[in-house]
Amino acid sequence: MTLVPSYIAALKPYKPGRNAAEVQRAYGLKRVAGLASNENPLGPSPKALEAIRRSLTDLNHYPNSGLDLREKLAEEYGTKVANVIAGSGSDSIMSDIIRTFLGDHDEVLTTEAAFGGFQVLARSRGVDYRTVPYEHWRYDLHALAAAVTEKTKIVYLANPNNPTGTIFTRQEFDEFYRHVPARVLIILDEAYFDYARDNPRYPDSMHYRYDNVITLRTFSKVYGLAGLRIGYGFAHEDLIAELMKVKLPFEPSTPAQAGAIAALDDKEWLHRSLELNARGMRLLTEALPVVPSEANFALLPLESREAAAHLVEELLRRGVIIRPMESWGLPQCVRISTGTDEDLQMLIDALEAVEPEMLLAR
Ligand SMILES: Cc1ncc(COP(=O)(O)O)c(C=O)c1O
Repeated sequence: MTLVPSYIAALKPYKPGRNAAEVQRAYGLKRVAGLASNENPLGPSPKALEAIRRSLTDLNHYPNSGLDLREKLAEEYGTKVANVIAGSGSDSIMSDIIRTFLGDHDEVLTTEAAFGGFQVLARSRGVDYRTVPYEHWRYDLHALAAAVTEKTKIVYLANPNNPTGTIFTRQEFDEFYRHVPARVLIILDEAYFDYARDNPRYPDSMHYRYDNVITLRTFSKVYGLAGLRIGYGFAHEDLIAELMKVKLPFEPSTPAQAGAIAALDDKEWLHRSLELNARGMRLLTEALPVVPSEANFALLPLESREAAAHLVEELLRRGVIIRPMESWGLPQCVRISTGTDEDLQMLIDALEAVEPEMLLAR
């Protein structure tokens, strides 16, 4: 089709995890355990839901481009409103970054099998997209630093990383940063920040600011608000000012801002969500030979693409949705999110029926 640039025609669309209601219908199942999308199985904070309900009477007015949430986040993290941006999910801010900073001849550099959402966004810009292999499922930051060329404009790093769940330390990041020229923008995607924050090896990027680093975070994960579409970013105010020019004028929506602000204040819900995740992560790690993870999911490498596809299908039939990683570039791997105790019991029961030899002695 001549209307469509070749890089769009060649683009593979983002493949989300299978939807629970749709799987339930398709397989005629009573109950489904959705372990494919790294969502919070506890659901959203009741206080966030109440704030969303209250905000609905204001829907005749346009929202204020995230200002309420930016003010709240600036206060929460002791920074200035000018250093904060809010958008309809961190995906939306990633899209703003791609449109704001990439020129036609620039190149994007990241790891192999990076977060699928980023892969699609970066490739949709039609620029060169280069990757460096993992080293034992962790970012090879030395190789990444060495791979920067004069064309490199954006380096994308997720910490904890999706889909491997691994982290890099502050020392490792600092060492990497020293080798990256200031004209390169580093995206530090911290969608899973809350799950790792208590690990002393995990760097809190709010404690150090670099002029060419933008940190992204989201309410889609531990805050249980994936359906609301709300995320935010921190960066030098000059970067935020450029992003604000490009960002769609009114997003995030009024209910999204109200829900996020209330969710931030509900520390008890956050605590319960983290406890449930820690329990689920312990269970996953004890039951399966997964890559040790600092997030709310774990990567399970299998011997082949066929073995991964077989496992996904057999678990689906038994009502357990896990995520095939082929479209991200890891065809021999699947990714499994933590869930409620019942969800994870369904997983273990299904594995006992399908691949009992895969289960570690418990
Ligand atoms: C590493 C990473 N970044 C960003 C996102 C997107 O988050 P949001 O729902 O805020 O767009 C996800 C969601 O899965 C993710 O895993």
